[in-house]
Amino acid sequence: MGLDFSERVAIVTGAGNGLGASHARLFGSLGARVVVNDLGGSGDGTGSDETVAEAMVAEIKASGGDAVANGDSVTDGEKIVQCAMDTFGRVDIVVNNAGILRDKSLHKMTDEDWDLVYQVHLQGAYKVSQAAFQRMREAGYGRFVMTTSAAGIYGNFGQANYSACKLALHGLSQTIAIEGRAKGIQSNTIAPIAASRLMGTVMDEEAMELLKPEVVSPLVAWLCHEDCTSSGDLFEVGAGWISRVRWERSQGSYFDPAGFSVDDVADQWEAINDFTDAEYPTGTSSTFKSIQKNPHLAND
Ligand SMILES: NC(=O)c1ccc[n+]([C@@H]2O[C@H](COP(=O)([O-])OP(=O)(O)OC[C@H]3O[C@@H](n4cnc5c(N)ncnc54)[C@H](O)[C@@H]3O)[C@@H](O)[C@H]2O)c1
Repeated sequence: MGLDFSERVAIVTGAGNGLGASHARLFGSLGARVVVNDLGGSGDGTGSDETVAEAMVAEIKASGGDAVANGDSVTDGEKIVQCAMDTFGRVDIVVNNAGILRDKSLHKMTDEDWDLVYQVHLQGAYKVSQAAFQRMREAGYGRFVMTTSAAGIYGNFGQANYSACKLALHGLSQTIAIEGRAKGIQSNTIAPIAASRLMGTVMDEEAMELLKPEVVSPLVAWLCHEDCTSSGDLFEVGAGWISRVRWERSQGSYFDPAGFSVDDVADQWEAINDFTDAEYPTGTSSTFKSIQKNPHLAND
């Protein structure tokens, strides 16, 4: 099929290491002009080093690609998007990938741990995406990928700050998908699993090889291609596995909206939690449809 990105400009945040570096390399090899953004700090969000982004750009250029380095923090999203505009004149693709970890169980979490993780993951993705969204609306085309985590989808011990922000990114993505639809803009979310410096301390060599970031990037590139029509969707990906995740809702139980008791809820608890004939809701209107089926409403 030979999908390529020769007309496209792609911003990849946190592209100096791990998954972002792999995404940037793939985009570069498929003809995209790439903005390699990376603050170059440590895994816990301290420090900065502009040579990290520059080294990746040198690598892409040495392989025949075209790229520019950007060392701003994602919290300065406008600067990153301006870099794309100044260098390449457009922005078609944004992969929000930059990330840090400050793991603590909730009772030990400091406000600094919470705020830093929030700033990089959620505030950063918002700032880059909002600045890019304006340009994409004007151009009538755009593709976003947000990077969530299994910790965001399912929760994970010691990651209250991280999991809260990671799931919020999927909320952002779903709304970009809705607001962008009429302007040719799509957004999807991936929950990757990959060996990186954030994982290196907890994995042996065999696992590190199986979980190469390179086997996550083809999904990212496909979601950013003009032929891909998916938007607002969520995928888990890693070690040669790609799968889609969606919401499931039980049929539920109906009560009299005029009022009902705690005992009524307790009596119906099993039925509320019964997933027989479950639905897969895809929009806020489906909530109202379910409410309208309340047999008590028909009697009023
Ligand atoms: N590796 C995994 O298994 C895994 C699992 C789930 C989610 N993720 C997510 O994937 C993304 C990439 O993770 P990774 O494992 O490749 O980590 P990594 O540490 O190898 O790479 C993250 C990059 O983001 C950069 N960065 C950090 N703060 C930044 C900022 N403010 N502005 C710009 N760049 C910044 C870092 O310098 C680093 O190069 C992260 O969002 C992470 O949460 C990773």
